[in-house]
Amino acid sequence: MDDRRFFQGIAEQMVSLDPYRATDLRARIHRYLNELKAGLQAVYPEADGVAERVARVLGQNLAQRPTDLQALDLERIHTPDWFQKPHIHGYIAYTDRFAGNLKGVAERVPYLKELGIRYLHLMPLLLPRQGENDGGYAVADYRRVRPDLGTMDDLEALCTKLRQEGISLCLDLVLNHVAREHPWAQAARQGDPRYRDYFYIYPDRTLPDAFERTLPEVFPDFAPGNFTWDDELGGWVWTTFNSWQWDVNWSNPEVFLEYLDLILWLANRGVEVFRLDAIAFTWKRLGTNCQNQPEVHALTQALRAAVRIGAPAVAFKAEAIVAPEDLIAYLGTGAHFGKVSELAYHNTLMVQIWSSLASRDTRLFTQALKRFPEKPPSTAWATYLRCHDDIGWAISDTDAAAVGLDGAAHRRFLSEFYKGDFPGSFARGMHFQENPATGDRRTSGMAASLAGLETALESGNPRHVNLAIERLLLAHAVFIGYGEGIPLIYMGDELGMLNDYDYVKEPAHQDDNRWLHRPRMDWAKAQKRRQGGTVEHRLFHGLKALLEARARTPQLHAAFPTQALWQANPHLLLLKRPHPQGTVVQVYNFSEHDQPFPFEALRAEGVVQPFDLISQAPAPAYLGPYARLWLVQHPV
Ligand code: GLC
Repeated sequence: MDDRRFFQGIAEQMVSLDPYRATDLRARIHRYLNELKAGLQAVYPEADGVAERVARVLGQNLAQRPTDLQALDLERIHTPDWFQKPHIHGYIAYTDRFAGNLKGVAERVPYLKELGIRYLHLMPLLLPRQGENDGGYAVADYRRVRPDLGTMDDLEALCTKLRQEGISLCLDLVLNHVAREHPWAQAARQGDPRYRDYFYIYPDRTLPDAFERTLPEVFPDFAPGNFTWDDELGGWVWTTFNSWQWDVNWSNPEVFLEYLDLILWLANRGVEVFRLDAIAFTWKRLGTNCQNQPEVHALTQALRAAVRIGAPAVAFKAEAIVAPEDLIAYLGTGAHFGKVSELAYHNTLMVQIWSSLASRDTRLFTQALKRFPEKPPSTAWATYLRCHDDIGWAISDTDAAAVGLDGAAHRRFLSEFYKGDFPGSFARGMHFQENPATGDRRTSGMAASLAGLETALESGNPRHVNLAIERLLLAHAVFIGYGEGIPLIYMGDELGMLNDYDYVKEPAHQDDNRWLHRPRMDWAKAQKRRQGGTVEHRLFHGLKALLEARARTPQLHAAFPTQALWQANPHLLLLKRPHPQGTVVQVYNFSEHDQPFPFEALRAEGVVQPFDLISQAPAPAYLGPYARLWLVQHPV
């Protein structure tokens, strides 16, 4: 398969291809065909045949690519770092919970713009199975929108509107599993051999038992085990998550072609970023935990190369909540360097922010960042404080030991602290998926409740309320200022929305306490952002000020690496961003007490007259509770 044949394969599917588009297409093929082939060859014996069919799928979708999206493709080819720029700020929301439906989201664009949002992740909105569906992560039809949210036309209209307003839409691509009700699974249940091959099905327990020996459990509480017996199938089907989420078999090239077609089809509706849900689990290997297998990266490389040819405007975001040494491969290591996902979640940063808030000590944080692998310069992290999932206390034993802590004890401390059980804790959360076998205990809760706002408001003590607000602003400043990627604000956190205990009233949600932190947007509360002195006003404008500061700071472009600095005061976190336009040193006070200003440490970095980019004023002589400063040498 050479460039010419591949080009012909595409062109045959297109009625017309004017000379300019043909030249452009040839250039894309020249750039990406080798990456595609290398990815396919690493997994499929019949790689050449698969490549031929990839060309056909590309041709069919390129023929349908709307002209305004072709324009976006061109723009992005010329601005490959668009998602790394410091003015790209993300927001995560459920369509219904945020605005009722897709049309409602369009009406809320002014709110998003007021905050400074340029990237919107709408939680799963494609047609899920009826009843329990894991918040939409059990998709029954990828080409239809959940009817109560609108239609595919509404989605397309929303994409157009967002694009005109400079906001990119991100959607989940659930590619590890489909709902038991998805047509592929239905056909498999009816015995169609073609579709049985789309899944991992075993006639008896021999292989499932062999796999289980090394497989962890994602939902030990409500979905123990990784296989489910299905009467209609007459077999055990692989179900990493819930029993009605069937893992698809990526070793079958048909599955690859199906998902490629889906991505291109959704991209033609205007979706710009695909969140590759649970991607770590997409390749299985006996004797392993069946996560992070090398084939996952080869497949992502092949998918991305094809999508760069068919819809260059699109970016991938890997959802791999795994240890740093495994995580980095999702942005590319070795032969895949810079050739896989553009974005991935920085789970460590999130966990360490919460860890330091609880302990008021940043040594573990600094240690973890020091040991964190450097990412390819062409990629970016998605940085965040909260999301729709639980917080897994991913503290590495090695890092803990390096700063004199016991990893298991610290993890236990964090889960107790954030449940609110630890003496003196300010937090209010819940345990998620307590696993007695491993001692693992994750945490659910809204950021504001975990950061102490709920208990503070209950106490009526204004000092505590003030500290909770400052704590939340500090936590946001760290991931907004981190600088290696897109900060994602989780819906409601900009207003300090609290835990939603009413989740138990919905039968489909009551067993999954992640719904504690998936509230409905409180628009009356949002109105209070206009009223000086309210919690909402302080948080909303505090966050907005951070985002504005980020947008005007070229040093926060994601191509440049962040370095954590060791210094004498264990309550302070210092992050350094060397940059041709001047180094920025960020100083964060993780305690509720005043701290001396770290003049020494700053002087060592050449910042002698520190000027704060957030407040746009010279640095103060001491650091107040939860102070946050982004410092440069005073501009002359
Ligand atoms: C991802 C989602 C999570 C979901 C799981 C299974 O981890 O974030 O909410 O339960 O995938 O799809």
